[in-house]
Amino acid sequence: MVTLKIITENRDNCEFKGEGGLCVLVDAFGNKFLLDTGYSNLFVHNAELLNIDLSSIETVVLTHGHSDHTNGVPYLASGRTIIMHPAGFKARWSIRKKEYAGFPMSFEELSAKHKVIATKEPYKICDNAYFLGEIPMKVSFEQNGNFSTTLDAELTQKDYTEDDSGVAITTSQGLFVMTGCGHRGICNTIERAKAVTGHSKVWGVFGGFHLRNLEKQKELIDHTIEYFKASEIKALYLGHCVTDEVIEYFEKNMPETKIYRLASGKEFNLNLSPVLSVQLEK
Ligand SMILES: [Fe+2]
Ligand SMILES: [Fe+2]
Repeated sequence: MVTLKIITENRDNCEFKGEGGLCVLVDAFGNKFLLDTGYSNLFVHNAELLNIDLSSIETVVLTHGHSDHTNGVPYLASGRTIIMHPAGFKARWSIRKKEYAGFPMSFEELSAKHKVIATKEPYKICDNAYFLGEIPMKVSFEQNGNFSTTLDAELTQKDYTEDDSGVAITTSQGLFVMTGCGHRGICNTIERAKAVTGHSKVWGVFGGFHLRNLEKQKELIDHTIEYFKASEIKALYLGHCVTDEVIEYFEKNMPETKIYRLASGKEFNLNLSPVLSVQLEK
């Protein structure tokens, strides 16, 4: 079983507040890790409501350095293992919000508090779960990426967001690929997951794919749907920077695929089995 607890996401849900950010507790066949930390300390409050003991979660994977995924990092209890791409520490500014959108701490500050694994290479998080490292941009229709920040406050220097990564969970039903914002392209992320794990079948995809505007991004969205259909993807978990109008378009054009909408406080139980059966010592 793979379980996803959406601690914070853009959408409010009952008593759970939302914020423009993402924080998910992933339980991959008994091994737990936090994927991102959201835009503030809201994840601490929502985790309490969900009865999640954050101090017991030792591993934190950061999909990229943008502040809506990392502003919660200073609120983590010390002594965590933090896995991320080294470019996540870059200073950068949001084009849409016209404000600082970089990592809230320096590498030195973070390392004083936690064990930091900053790597461009793939990294095994636990059995059946892999951090993808740097994602090459190879898929023809995603070569421009989906970048939302610049390297300067004047918003002139393009930020290729080299740190934008993700996670692949290997299951006997196929890969489960997770991303935060998919700035390097969701199909590029899936291709990277295939190359890293050596598995070509994809069962499901999770995340923000940075698809916000149906009118402006229609061509890209149509190509993405074609790619998903050709890959025979069974389930999509969509939210954060995928807007409701884009989710509805996916639902309309992919009737064969189960499509779930993320929101703060939601829990998803994925009936998947691990690739390797683990022989426990007697
Ligand atoms: Fe982002
Ligand atoms: Fe984001």
